[in-house]
Amino acid sequence: MKGATTNICYNVLDRIVHEKKLGDKIAFYWEGNEPEETTQITYHELLVQVCQFSNVLRKQGIRKGDRVAIYMPMIPKLVVAMLACARLGALHSIVFAGFSAESLCERILDASCSLLITADAFYRGEKLVKLKELADEALEKCREKGFPVRCCIVVKHLRRTELGTGDSLSQSPPIKRPCPDVQISWNEGVDFWWHELIHEAGDECEPEWCDAEDPLFILYTSGSTGKPKGVVHTVGGYMLYVATTFKYVFDFHAEDVFWCTADIGWITGHSYVTYGPMANGATSVLFEGIPTYPDVSRMWSIVDKYKVTKFYTAPTAIRLLMKFGDKPVTKHSRASLQVLGTVGEPINPEAWLWYHQVVGAQRCPIVDTFWQTETGGHMLTPLPGATPMKPGSATFPFFGVAPAILNESGEELEGEAEGYLVFKQPWPGIMRTVYGNHERFETTYFKKFPGYYVTGDGCRRDQDGYYWITGRIDDMLNVSGHLLSTAEVESALVEHKAIAEAAVVSHPHPVKGECLYCFVTLCDGYTFSSTLTEELKKQIREKIGPIATPDYIQNAPGLPKTRSGKIMRRVLRKIAQNDHDLGDISTVADPSVISQLFSHRCLTVQ
Ligand code: PRX
Repeated sequence: MKGATTNICYNVLDRIVHEKKLGDKIAFYWEGNEPEETTQITYHELLVQVCQFSNVLRKQGIRKGDRVAIYMPMIPKLVVAMLACARLGALHSIVFAGFSAESLCERILDASCSLLITADAFYRGEKLVKLKELADEALEKCREKGFPVRCCIVVKHLRRTELGTGDSLSQSPPIKRPCPDVQISWNEGVDFWWHELIHEAGDECEPEWCDAEDPLFILYTSGSTGKPKGVVHTVGGYMLYVATTFKYVFDFHAEDVFWCTADIGWITGHSYVTYGPMANGATSVLFEGIPTYPDVSRMWSIVDKYKVTKFYTAPTAIRLLMKFGDKPVTKHSRASLQVLGTVGEPINPEAWLWYHQVVGAQRCPIVDTFWQTETGGHMLTPLPGATPMKPGSATFPFFGVAPAILNESGEELEGEAEGYLVFKQPWPGIMRTVYGNHERFETTYFKKFPGYYVTGDGCRRDQDGYYWITGRIDDMLNVSGHLLSTAEVESALVEHKAIAEAAVVSHPHPVKGECLYCFVTLCDGYTFSSTLTEELKKQIREKIGPIATPDYIQNAPGLPKTRSGKIMRRVLRKIAQNDHDLGDISTVADPSVISQLFSHRCLTVQ
C-alpha cells in the first residue's frame, strides 16, 4: 500500500516479543570457537540490546539512509549491530571478517560509510584473527584516500573476561586457551569501546519507520569486471521473501532449532541466520568456529548439544567432512535432525548421497537451494517431504518464481534443454540496484536478454522438468561456495612488480569444488621461483583475502590470445587440466605458446 510504513527490526524483535509473546524464547544459542564457550540470548534480551545500541548509533549521528560498515566475528553483537542499523533505517554493509584490510577499505569507500563496527580479535579454529589491526589498516587507507571515517566502535571480544559480569557474553566460562595479549592501537576521538558506549545508552528506542522500498542493506559480491558490486536490498520485499522462504523451505515449526552454518558476512547468513529465522520467531544456533576444530565431529556434537532439527550448510563443508569417513558423524546421535539443506554451489551426487545416507541416516529430506546474493532468498528448491528429490538437482522454482532456459539467441527453450538460466518475472526479494551505479545493475542483469533477469549460471532441465545448475557461464569462479571474479584476482596479481600479465581460470578441486589456477607472464629481468609464488599468494591474501589464495601459479612466457588480443581462457582451462582436446584453436594468434604451456604445467599443488 502506498504510503504505508514498516521496519524490519520491529518485525523481527518487537513484534515477536510483544505480539507473539515470545520474549522469553531463545533467539540464539551462541557456540564459540571453543566448545566450552557458550551463551544464549532471548528475543527480549536481544530487543533490549538492539535498542541500546541503536541509541548509541543515533548519538554518534547515524540517521536514516546513512551507511554503516560492520566487520565482525560470528557473535551475538554482530546480530545486534545489524539490527540496530535496520532499526534506524541506516544501511548496514557487512564485510566478511575473512576479507583483507584492502577489501574493507574498498567497500567503505564505495558506500561512503561514516562509521565502522568491529572487534578486537577472535579465533577461527587455531587461527587468531587480529581484526582491529586490519580495521585500523583499512581506516588508514581510507584516510589516505581522503575519506576519514569518523567513528569506529570496537567490541572487546577476545579479552571479554576483563569486562566482568556486566556483559552477557562474559557469563560464559573464560576461554580455555591462553588469551594472547593482542596489542590494540587506539585512535583517540575515533575509536570507542562498545561496552563503554552502551553503558550510558537507554534501552528503549523508537524504530525509524520506513517505506517498503527504502534500502535495508548493501552486501558486496564479486563482479565480472573485478570491482565488487554493492547489492542493495530493500526493507519490505526482502523481509517478506526471507520470512516466507525460511518458513516453507525449512518447514518451520515453533519448536525447531535451526542451524545455518554460514557466516553472517555472506547473504546466506543475512537471510537465514538473522532475518528469515527471526521473522518467524525461530531459535537458531550461531556458531563462531569451523567444522574441523577441535575435531572433525564438531558439527555433529553441536547438533546433539542443541538438538538441532534443521541444518543448512554448503557442499564444500560436506565434501571436507566426507574425507574423514562416517565414524565422526555416527558417533553422535543426530536423532533430532529432520531437514538438511545445502547452498552455495552445485552439490555433486556423491556428496549428496553421503549427506543423505550418513548425516541424515536416510530419514531427512535434503533441500538443495539455488539462489544468489542478488535474489535475497531461495529461487529453485525442493520443499522438504513434498518434492521427490534427485541428488544434485535444485528441483523446482519456489512459489512465484518463473525460471526459463534461453539459448544464445535469447529464445526460450521448452522441455528437456540446456542453456542460460534466467527469471521471467520479478519476485519480492530481488535486489533493487547496485549501490551508486544503477546503470551497472541494468547492464549486468538485464542487458544480455532484455526482459529477463540473467543469473549468470548455466542450467539443464531434464525430461521430468527438474532444474540442474551446471555452474557459472561468465568469468566467475565458485571457490568453496564463494564467488570470485577472475578479473579481481588478475588485477591483484599484476599489481606485483614482477608480473606483466596474468590470466586466472577455474580448476576442479575435490573439496573446494573449484580452485584458482593462475598463469603469470613475468616482466623482463625477473625469474619464476617459489619465493615469487609465495609473494604472489601473499599479495592476493592482502588485496582480497585468504579465500582467494590460488592453488596453482604457473609461469607463462606467453598466453594464448586471439588476433584481437583477447586471452583464450577456454584453452587455458584445458591446459590446466592437461586436456589436449582443445577444440577449434584456429583463432589463436601464436599456437606455439600452447605447447609451451602444456610442458610447463604445475603438477603439484603449491
Ligand atoms: O553459481 C550459483 C551458485 O552460487 C552463485 C551465487 O553466489 P552468491 O551470490 O555468493 O550466493 C551464494 C549463496 C546464495 C550462483 O549464481 N549457487 C548457489 N546455490 C547453488 C549454486 N549452484 C548450484 N546449486 C546451488 N544450490
